[in-house]
Amino acid sequence: MRQTLVMGNWKLNGSKVMVSELISALKAPAAEAANVAVTVCPPVLFLAQAETELAGSNIALGAQDADVNTSGAFTGENSPAMYREFGVKYVLVGHSERRTLHGESDAMVAAKFAAVQEQQLVPVLCIGETLEQFEAGDTQSVVERQLQAVIEQCGIAALGKAVIAYEPVWAIGTGKTATPEIAQSVHSAIRAFLAKQDADVAAGVQILYGGSVKGDSAAGLFAMADIDGALVGGAALNADEFAAIIKAGA
Ligand code: G3P
Repeated sequence: MRQTLVMGNWKLNGSKVMVSELISALKAPAAEAANVAVTVCPPVLFLAQAETELAGSNIALGAQDADVNTSGAFTGENSPAMYREFGVKYVLVGHSERRTLHGESDAMVAAKFAAVQEQQLVPVLCIGETLEQFEAGDTQSVVERQLQAVIEQCGIAALGKAVIAYEPVWAIGTGKTATPEIAQSVHSAIRAFLAKQDADVAAGVQILYGGSVKGDSAAGLFAMADIDGALVGGAALNADEFAAIIKAGA
């Protein structure tokens, strides 16, 4: 049985006051939904404060990206090894905003995936198609290509120690949530693709949906057999909205 996982990707949003107030407001809803795993992913500059604020809660800490180098002459990079100093458990890799705005290739994402796992952290592999690819009917080939790049570099078993987040780019930040049926069809096809290589990995890996998830759309998504939670952007910045998404998974 896969546990429901609700992750908040704060993206480039936050302040010291907001980190304190938002995390404080999420502790009770997260504790009440004991069967739901909850994670917040603040900007890297707030990881230390978030670790302190999360102490004693059942909310895990995640990072939004990682570089592949662990230490040395790599000015400005963020080391996956150093994330462990702050109690980070999850690291997003390959978010569409990294792929599009920073030119991250499938191979670069696979290298980040490997670097995160090498530190015994859990990579959250973000995959998904653009609107043009969706309209061309290329969704499945795109997500399979993105998955296969990691499998070729790390092996299928590595996905058994990771999380997958399917985020149709056309649904991110647009208010256009994929319907539960559309999302389920892609999640099911992802799981079937993985099952061809390893049935146990396919059955056990959590596949989250991301793309304009809100409190009123979460329950319909979570009711789908192959949707194991959500990777939430905008709604994660609003305590009541994010709490409603957590509650929907309980
Ligand atoms: O990583 C989650 C994010 O891309 C989804 O954003 O604002 O559509 O929930 P949003």
